[in-house]
Amino acid sequence: MGTYVVTGSASGMGCAAAERLRADGHRVIGVDLRDAEVIADLSTVNGRIEAAVAVLELAGGRLDGAVLAAGVGPLPGRDNVKLILSVNYFGVVELLQKWQSAFATAGNAKVVVVGSNSSTTMPMVPLRAVRALLRDDLDGAVKTLRRYRVVAPSLTYGASKIAVSRWIRRNAVLPDWAGAGIRLNVIAPGAIRTPLLEKQLASPREAKAVQSFPVPVGGFGDPEHLAEWMVFMLSEAADFLCGSVIFVDGGSDAYFRADDWPRRVPTLRLPAYAWKFLRR
Ligand code: NAI
Repeated sequence: MGTYVVTGSASGMGCAAAERLRADGHRVIGVDLRDAEVIADLSTVNGRIEAAVAVLELAGGRLDGAVLAAGVGPLPGRDNVKLILSVNYFGVVELLQKWQSAFATAGNAKVVVVGSNSSTTMPMVPLRAVRALLRDDLDGAVKTLRRYRVVAPSLTYGASKIAVSRWIRRNAVLPDWAGAGIRLNVIAPGAIRTPLLEKQLASPREAKAVQSFPVPVGGFGDPEHLAEWMVFMLSEAADFLCGSVIFVDGGSDAYFRADDWPRRVPTLRLPAYAWKFLRR
C-alpha cells in the first residue's frame, strides 16, 4: 500500500479522492485550510513551503503519488485575481517541485493535477497572463488580468488552468519527471457537483452562466466518479500515461473544439525526427 498526498482533501473532488484511496488501504496525507493532516494556506508563499515540508516529514521523504485538487473558482471581484492564481497555479507547481525527490524515491510515482475544461472552452483568456505564470511572474499575470474588470475572475480562472496544464505537459516529458519514473497528468473536469459549483449556483449571475453552458450529456458530474478516474490515473494502468489531459466533462470540450485537437503538426514546425524520416 502506498502513501499519497491529496491537496484540497477537505471538500469536493479532493475529499472524494482521499476517501477512495483510504478505502483501498492507502495512507493519505491531506492538505487543506481545515480538516486535514496538514493545515496550510496554499495562497501564500510561506503556506506552500510549510505544506511541502510538513508533507515530506510525515511521508518520510517518499511519496507514491499525489492528487493536486486544492483550488478556488472564479470568485467575483478583481481583488481575487491574485488569490485564484496563487492557489490554482503556484499551489500546484511549487508543491510538485518540492516533492519531486520524494516521488523519485518511490520509483513509480503518479501525479494527477485537477485542471478544468475552462482551459479549452473559455474564450478571450489573455495568453500574456498564461506566459507570465509560466515564467513565475505572478505580479505580471495579476496586472494583465486586473485590466479585464468585471470578467477578470473568469479569465483568471481560465488562465490559471491553461498555465497549470501547460506546466504539466512541458515538465512531464523531462528527465527529472518521466526519466525518474514519475507520471504527471491532468484531469480536466467539467461542471461537477461540489461545494465550489454550489457557490457559483448560489449567485444568480454565475448560475445563469453555468446553467446555459452546453453539456451534451446533460446535468453535472459526480465527484465520486471523478475520484474513480483520479485513482485509475494513479494506478499501474497509468504507467504509459504521460503529460495527458483527460477531459471528463460531459462532452463540452468536444462540443466547442471538435476539430481543434488532435491537430497535425504545422509543416514548418516538424520535429527533427520527422525531417530525418522525410529525407530518407
Ligand atoms: P471544493 O471547493 O469542493 O474543494 C476545494 C478544496 O480546496 C477545499 O477543501 C478548499 O478548502 C481547498 N482550498 C482552497 N483554497 C485553499 C488554500 N488557499 N489552501 C489550501 N486549500 C485550499 O472544490 P472542487 O470542485 O472539489 O474543486 C477541486 C478542483 O477541481 C479545483 O482545482 C477546481 O478548480 C477544479 N474544478 C472544479 C470544477 C467543478 O465544477 N467543481 C470543474 C473543473 C475544475
